[in-house]
Amino acid sequence: MDIYLGIDTSTTSTKTIAIDQAGKILAVSSSGYSFETPFPLWSEQDPHLWWHATKLSVRACMTKAAVTPSQVKGIGLTGQMHGLVILDEKGEVLRPAILWNDQRTQKQCDEIRELIGKKEFIRITGNDALTGFTAPKILWVKEKEPAIFKKINHILLPKDYIRLRLTGEYAMDRAGGSGTVLFNLAGRDWSPDLIKMLGFNPAWFPPTFEGTQLTGTLTKQAAEEVGLVEGIPVFGGGGDQAASAVGTGAVREGILSLSLGTSGVVFAAVDAPFIEPEGRLHAFCHAIPGKWHLMGVMLSAAGSLRWFKDTFRDRSNFDDLLAGTRGIMPGSDGLIFLPYLTGERTPYPDPLARGAFTGITVRHTIHHFTRAVLEGVAFGLRDSYELMKEAGLKNMEQVRITGGGAKSLIWRQIIADIFNAEIVSINSGEGAAFGAALLAATGAGSFASVEQACSSTISITERVIPGQDVDRYQKIYAEYRSLYPALKDAFHRIPDIIS
Ligand code: XUL
Repeated sequence: MDIYLGIDTSTTSTKTIAIDQAGKILAVSSSGYSFETPFPLWSEQDPHLWWHATKLSVRACMTKAAVTPSQVKGIGLTGQMHGLVILDEKGEVLRPAILWNDQRTQKQCDEIRELIGKKEFIRITGNDALTGFTAPKILWVKEKEPAIFKKINHILLPKDYIRLRLTGEYAMDRAGGSGTVLFNLAGRDWSPDLIKMLGFNPAWFPPTFEGTQLTGTLTKQAAEEVGLVEGIPVFGGGGDQAASAVGTGAVREGILSLSLGTSGVVFAAVDAPFIEPEGRLHAFCHAIPGKWHLMGVMLSAAGSLRWFKDTFRDRSNFDDLLAGTRGIMPGSDGLIFLPYLTGERTPYPDPLARGAFTGITVRHTIHHFTRAVLEGVAFGLRDSYELMKEAGLKNMEQVRITGGGAKSLIWRQIIADIFNAEIVSINSGEGAAFGAALLAATGAGSFASVEQACSSTISITERVIPGQDVDRYQKIYAEYRSLYPALKDAFHRIPDIIS
C-alpha cells in the first residue's frame, strides 16, 4: 500500500494526515502551539515552533497509521496563508513571523495604494492591499526594522519554511504565493515590476509551483528528524484555503465551499483570473493547475458564537445553547447582530469595524441573542456570496459546508434560508491537510487529476434546502446591510476616545 502525508502548518497547531493511494484516511495527528500578541493588533509566531510540531505530528501520525516509512510516496504541504517569514543568507530566521491575523500595517497598505494606485494594484494582483496580506508586512519591516530588512535574503510563507526544513529547497506553491499580493494573478507568478516598485529585491522570492508539482525531496537530515526516509517527494500543496477547497471538492466552477470555523470563508473555484473590481473579494490562484478562486473571508464566524458562549453562558455546551433558539422566530424579534468582533475583511476591509447588537428590547432573552448571533454570521457570509454574484459568477449550483459550526443543523438551516441556496454536508471533515495529501497523491500519479481525486473520495452526506423563511430573511438582510455604514464612524472614533 502506498501512503501520502498532508501536513498543515496552521495558526494553532501542525496537523499531519496519512491517506492510502485510494484516498482513505488512515490517521490524523496534531501538535499545538500558540501565537504572541506583544502589542495591540500584532500577531507573531516563531517558525521553529512549526518545525518542532511537524516532527511530533509526523511521528505520531505514522505510529497511529501503523505503516512503515518506506511506504510513504509523497508529502503535500499546506498552512496558514500570508504569514511573513524572513530569512538571512544562511536560511536563519531573522525575526518572528508576522501572521495573517496581524493588523499593524494599515499605514503601509495606504502607502501601497498611493504608490501603485488602488486600481492598478487590483489589476495586477487581483486584490486590494489589506493588512492581512504579506506585501504590507515586508514594507513594515523596511520602515520599522531597517537593520533586519538589510539582512533579508529569502522570503517564505509558513508552509514553505517547513518545505525548506524538509527538502533544503526555497520554493512556494502558487495558491500561497498569490496571497502575498506580489503576484501577477493572471500570469500565476511573481510580478518583478511590482516587487521593484515597492523597494524589494526580486531575488528574495523563491520559484513557484502548482499544487501537484514536485518541489524537492526529503533530505537525509530531515528524514532522521521526522522519522521518514530520505528522498520522499514533497509536492507544491497550497495555502490552507485552496487546499481545504480541494479537501471539500470545490475544484470546479459551480461548487462553492463555505467553511464555518473560527473565521468564515466563502470560496468559489473559477476557470479564469476573475476579480471583484473593488478588491472586496480575494482573488488568488487555486492549488489546481490552471484554476483560480474567489474568496470572501469573515474574521469571526463560529468565533462569534464561541465568544458569546464563553462570555454569557460559559457553563453550557453548544448543543444546549443552540437548542434554546428553537422557539425563537426567524429574525430574533428584531434583534440584529453585527459579527465584526475582530475587525473585518469581507465585505468591509476594516480592522476597526466592531461587533454590535441592535434593536434590543426588554422582550429579548438569552435565546434571542444566541439566534441573532447565528443569523448575523449567516448575513455576513451572504455578503461574500452576493459579491460573487455581483462580480458575475454564475451557476452556483451547490454550497458545501464544513468546519465546527457546520455540525449544527439549526445553523445550516438558517444559512440555507439566508442564502436561499441548498447547503450540503460532505463525508470529509479534515479540510486542508486532507486536500494537501490529495494534491501529493495526484502529483505522484495515484489519481489522474485533482478533480478525479476529489470525486473518488468526497461524497455528500446531508442536504438542507431553503424553507419558508427566505422572504422574511431577505427583508432583514437589507436592514443588516444598512447597519455597518450607519455605525462605521462611531466604530472609528471610539478607540481614540477610550485610549
Ligand atoms: C486566508 C486567511 C486565513 C489564513 C488562516 O486569506 O487569511 O484563512 O490562511 O488560516
